[in-house]
Amino acid sequence: MHMLTGTSRNITGALHIGGLPAKDLADKYGTPLFVLDEEHIRHNCRQYSEAFCSGNRNRIAYAGKAMLTMAICQIIEEQGMYLDVVSGGELYTAMAANFPVERIYFHGNNKSSGELAMALDAGVGTIVVDNLNELSMLDVLTKERQRKTAVLLRVALGVDAATHKYIQTGQHDSKFGFAVNSDALAYAIRLSLTHDFIQLQGYHSHIGSQIQALSGFAQAVEVMYQLVEKYMSTFGFTPSQLNLGGGLGIRYTADEPESPIADLVAIVLEHAQAQNERLGIDPILVLEPGRSIIGSAGTTLYSIGTVKEIEGIRTFVSVDGGMTDNPRPALYGAKYECAVVDKLDQPRTKLYSIAGKCCESGDMLIWDVKLPQVAPGDVLAVFATGAYNFSMSSNYNRLPRPGVVLVKDGQSRVIVERETYADIISRDKPLR
Ligand SMILES: Cc1ncc(COP(=O)(O)O)c(C=O)c1O
Repeated sequence: MHMLTGTSRNITGALHIGGLPAKDLADKYGTPLFVLDEEHIRHNCRQYSEAFCSGNRNRIAYAGKAMLTMAICQIIEEQGMYLDVVSGGELYTAMAANFPVERIYFHGNNKSSGELAMALDAGVGTIVVDNLNELSMLDVLTKERQRKTAVLLRVALGVDAATHKYIQTGQHDSKFGFAVNSDALAYAIRLSLTHDFIQLQGYHSHIGSQIQALSGFAQAVEVMYQLVEKYMSTFGFTPSQLNLGGGLGIRYTADEPESPIADLVAIVLEHAQAQNERLGIDPILVLEPGRSIIGSAGTTLYSIGTVKEIEGIRTFVSVDGGMTDNPRPALYGAKYECAVVDKLDQPRTKLYSIAGKCCESGDMLIWDVKLPQVAPGDVLAVFATGAYNFSMSSNYNRLPRPGVVLVKDGQSRVIVERETYADIISRDKPLR
């Protein structure tokens, strides 16, 4: 059961998370339930910060798209980190949590004028400009407000990360950012450098997510510095900041490799430092991890309902959630591991497939997993669900979203209430 090692979960015959029996959490808060191990999140934050930011001006910005709530913003703030937001809603969450706005990077490939105005009015630290349309909106908005803003230009470096194509972002054929050798990028740099209010700090790139092979990151650094060099000589522009994005993969199943945070940081620093020396520059470097901060800190608890055996074919085990709380298997065939929380020491003798409760045959969480004999009412834990689960959840079939509970040192607290049926209809406007 590799998912229980390398995390702060304990085994005493029954699954414990943050010092609490998972079964007790399910009984107390109901299922489905997202459980986040606070110490595991903080540990990952410290690993990044200590390796990447010690003795320099470098920054770690947590990518809120992985999982953002007001409590998570507060943890990130306490860890002294920066925050990457990608929409008005994420920015609003951060502001409501009193996250220091000057520590926010505002991303997005299609920010609206309203979102940009919101960011300028709030005093967001850095806007990561994705395209020329956004730059012209910023031109108008900053002049209207007579307000300066720091920007980075997002660049698609042309690096194909070794990951699922839906979560590759740095290839030439991408909806994100300026293509690395494009006229549009040169124009954006020139315009920003001569603008009274748009203050160009440097460049941003993000090559994709769930990347296990570190060579892609090394290549990204090399291409980024080729870009730096080109525009140092063309426009005399020396960036004060380079943001290299996030993307480090985590281990979802036993057959996947470990991707230690320290290894990513070492490779980025080694390549960047060599380039800094070569070019005689010293920009602030930024990394933007999401999944590798919070992914393995999350566990989803479900109650098992129907167990349907189709003789000679397979046995479906249905749980009380599914693609509504975890769309990743349906979206891109993501793999997960699971365990019955109070049967950890029983032999895994039966082959099951774990189905969600939505009206889609594709609503399958895990195909072909061996478990001890299960029965309706058993609690099933699916591991490593901290990233891109809660944040991608939906109300399909009008299922209420699960609550989120933070656990630490044997204590639990709700950080997001479970939705109710009343929440589900709260914005409906009936005809009569
Ligand atoms: C711009 C940007 N930064 C950071 C991230 C975080 O990626 P990850 O969660 O894989 O670390 C993403 C996610 O796709 C992103 O688009």
